[in-house]
Amino acid sequence: MSTIEITPEQKIEHSLSVRFVRNDAKDASIEQAVPFFKGGFLSTEFASLEGEPTLLVGLGSQPLDKFKVKEAAAKAVSEGRKRDFAALTLHIAPFLEAQNPETVRDLAEGALLGDYSLPCFGEKQEAAKEKPECRIYLSGIPSEYQEEAKSLCTEASCIAEGVRFARDMVNMPGNRLRPEDFARYVTEQMAGLNVEVECFHQDALREMGMHALLAVGDSSEFPPCLLVLRYRGMPDHSRITGLVGKSVTCDTGGYCLKAAASMTGIKGDMAGGAAVAGAVYALAKSGEKTNVTALLPMCENRISAGSLLPGDVISSYSGKTIEVLNTDAEGRLILADAVSYAVKNENVTELLDIATLTGAVAGLLGFTIGGVLCDSDSWYAEFKHAYEVSGERYLRIPYYEEHEKLIESKLADVKNVTKDCGTIGAGLFIRAFAEGTPWLHLDIAGTAWVESPIFAFQSAGATGAGVSTLYQLCRRSIS
Ligand code: BES
Ligand code: MN
Ligand code: ZN
Repeated sequence: MSTIEITPEQKIEHSLSVRFVRNDAKDASIEQAVPFFKGGFLSTEFASLEGEPTLLVGLGSQPLDKFKVKEAAAKAVSEGRKRDFAALTLHIAPFLEAQNPETVRDLAEGALLGDYSLPCFGEKQEAAKEKPECRIYLSGIPSEYQEEAKSLCTEASCIAEGVRFARDMVNMPGNRLRPEDFARYVTEQMAGLNVEVECFHQDALREMGMHALLAVGDSSEFPPCLLVLRYRGMPDHSRITGLVGKSVTCDTGGYCLKAAASMTGIKGDMAGGAAVAGAVYALAKSGEKTNVTALLPMCENRISAGSLLPGDVISSYSGKTIEVLNTDAEGRLILADAVSYAVKNENVTELLDIATLTGAVAGLLGFTIGGVLCDSDSWYAEFKHAYEVSGERYLRIPYYEEHEKLIESKLADVKNVTKDCGTIGAGLFIRAFAEGTPWLHLDIAGTAWVESPIFAFQSAGATGAGVSTLYQLCRRSIS
């Protein structure tokens, strides 16, 4: 894990200097030393400037939004790391010309994520352990911003750690992350923090009547569980945000088996739970004044004698009956029980669920925009503010009364598939269990995972989608 700090120094000894260069405002000394360097966005060049090893990173001539700021910082660090530098000094003055010190948070987050590497095994793991951790310094911050920059930097470190944890969990091979393993890793991650962890194992789930979670979980010999995380940064306040994250550690589809080509990435079907865990970690680590209860329903979706069959009717924790028409629509089943549990037992005042729920959302919005459904304009307004700060992309998808018919079943209270409107139908299914608590739903099936990086702060595989936005949402959730 690399570290980041603000430095008043011009240059840290033995570090690689990083200079960011706009192609419309090149420095004369850079022009002279590397006349061929054009400063195109994310282009890089190594040079010796005034006897110092220096990495030039181009910023192009476009305005720099949050994505571009994070990308530039990530690129600087990943290039520096390729050359085995263990310390980097990023001269960030060009980013502060707009007089916006908040940019420091984006720079720090991008820089830390530029040094992410996949969990690996065997000799590769040994080799990775040898690599020294990286120290990153941000230099060139005007003295009047130093204090604010320091706290933004600390905030970014907490967020980046949360993102890295989420990525590690999502990237973990399915055979090394069974439901009980996931629960254990999250529990370990919360050690030493002000987070109460409770895990309901299979027997407890049976006693409680978590029929929908069990109906999916019983498909595997690796048993399901429900992990509860309670963070009380403001114990005297009654507002408690409920975060529910889909944690299917492997989704084969069950008897409605996925085709082989659709099986790549099935280990990543717990990205919602990983995002929730990462956000709770970041909130607790930075000691935010907020109250959060997180629910992670964990299970596998497989084939066994006890598996669901298409056409089955099951019960649920809420008492509502569910007609299961497709065993591959398992996420909404386990989320239904976790959402019911949150509203019945945890006194949550508003709910957010996050899940890799439908392939349809990726068809609609691709791999960079998450889909949102919400039944409360004020809850949505808080969410929108949060993602504008975090710099993730989301789009609210509308729904109306007529869509509520999508989930009506002829023989049970609801059914788990809809003929059309896959993403809306899946969301409204979950909403049917929220019992009127303000509800917001994030479908991250498109954004949780990238075959190859789309942005420079990503690496192939898990993205950590949702962590930074949930963090920003919850830290502001008490007013
Ligand atoms: N976990 C999948 C959704 C998914 C698909 C995530 C692709 C990431 C990439 C979910 O459990 C699922 O299988 N959904 C089905 C629902 C359908 C059977 C109604 C889908 O989207 O095809
Ligand atoms: Mn599925
Ligand atoms: Zn799934």
